[in-house]
Amino acid sequence: MSIVDRQKTLVAGNWKMNNSLNEARSLVSGITSHLEKDPELYKNAEFLICPSPLHVSNITEILDGVPVHVGGQDCSFENNGAHTGDVSAEMLKDVGCRYVVLGHSERRQEHSESSVLVAQKSIAAHAQGLIAVICVGETLDERESGKAFDVVARQLQESIPSTANAENIVIAYEPVWAIGTGKVASPDDVEKMHAFIADALKEKLDNGLTIRILYGGSVKPDNANALSKIDHVGGFLIGGASLNADSYIGIARALA
Ligand code: PGA
Repeated sequence: MSIVDRQKTLVAGNWKMNNSLNEARSLVSGITSHLEKDPELYKNAEFLICPSPLHVSNITEILDGVPVHVGGQDCSFENNGAHTGDVSAEMLKDVGCRYVVLGHSERRQEHSESSVLVAQKSIAAHAQGLIAVICVGETLDERESGKAFDVVARQLQESIPSTANAENIVIAYEPVWAIGTGKVASPDDVEKMHAFIADALKEKLDNGLTIRILYGGSVKPDNANALSKIDHVGGFLIGGASLNADSYIGIARALA
């Protein structure tokens, strides 16, 4: 049975550069124990966690048989070879990943990643059968100067590769100013941007309308219900609140 079900809300935890191995193990045990007690949670939600690549093998061992996907937080555009410090999509696949997050704003900002590079990385991910979670989103300056839609349109245009289809990409809209700040985009802004992205995907790809579009940026159990009711919101990419089993699962419980 495929556990990728695009009808369900994808509840994706991005653990970023957090947790010792022991902390990562106890976080995943906390998540599985909630899911064991309440299997109804799988009815509406599909679960994905993206730990440090150092911890992925340990986590996939703990998750053996549990329908929670594991993903990478980045991958190289190359498959192997002389690329010091990089992790390939093939390596992620080999240790049990199903997804990989690409073009997160922290990578775009701290590592000067361009959308063109994100597209190359997505091609590498697709070659391994991984689902690429491609992140887009505007900065506060861009929003305040009325450029949010242009910026996102361009990121989508350049980051989505020719190998993309409705099965192998997920788009995450994450306004940069909402990440880790406690500021959530207003329901109206989320609705407008998600509708805009859905239109762009429909134009770009056959079946584009069925691509999942996640919202990310200060998602918490207490705002997840309202956000999940917005058209074209197919899930969440969650940073801070995914580092605690109660709040991560609390988001799944709050789904409409
Ligand atoms: P946040 O991060 O939930 O801590 O705002 C979201 C993200 O960066 O994916």
